[in-house]
Amino acid sequence: MKRVMLKLFTSLIAVSMMICSFVSETYAASKDTLVVYFSATGNTRALASTAAAALGTDTFEIIPSKPYSADDLNYRDDNCRANAEQRDSALRPKIKDLNVDLKSYRTIVLAYPLWWAEEPRIIDTFIESFDFSGKTIVPVCTSGSSDIQKSVENIRTLIKGKPTVKDGKRFMPNISKDEFKSWYDSI
Ligand SMILES: Cc1cc2nc3c(=O)[nH]c(=O)nc-3n(C[C@H](O)[C@H](O)[C@H](O)COP(=O)(O)O)c2cc1C
Repeated sequence: MKRVMLKLFTSLIAVSMMICSFVSETYAASKDTLVVYFSATGNTRALASTAAAALGTDTFEIIPSKPYSADDLNYRDDNCRANAEQRDSALRPKIKDLNVDLKSYRTIVLAYPLWWAEEPRIIDTFIESFDFSGKTIVPVCTSGSSDIQKSVENIRTLIKGKPTVKDGKRFMPNISKDEFKSWYDSI
């Protein structure tokens, strides 16, 4: 009887270990992928953090040298800083710290809000600061309602090294890990 119980117990442990390893594989740490994001008011930060949790990756935040105030972001004011930046496609706002080593990453998930249906110019600063040869870029964004298409066209034009740039997708900031993962696995 003791032997049967022991066998049963051992089998139970083996099955639990298999389940645990399946679950951890589902969200396995993906050290060749990095989630890079810029967020002015927190929505894209939420998306980036869900994406990183779903993919088991680290994140790198693009922080502007000069933070955006609420006035800077008041798009109802034609002359606010964000609107002025978006009107000038050659403008490149400075990033506080560009000290990120992208060499070991094959895939970069690039997350940003849409400003006037395009990527904020600071995203252009980022993509022009590195050579992305051989990498895959997965653009994702948050927005009030605009879709990601125009920003992806811009990124394809500006990015250095001719990486593969996926079509990307607009997400709600509160998307679940599972929803993000199943989209990511489908592209
Ligand atoms: C200057 C500015 C311009 C914007 N333009 C658009 C737009 O063209 N279309 C849209 O759907 N949302 C637009 N939005 C809304 C943002 O894309 C949306 O609130 C986004 O989730 C903000 O992300 P964040 O919190 O990470 O900064 C704009 C917001 C700002 C500040």
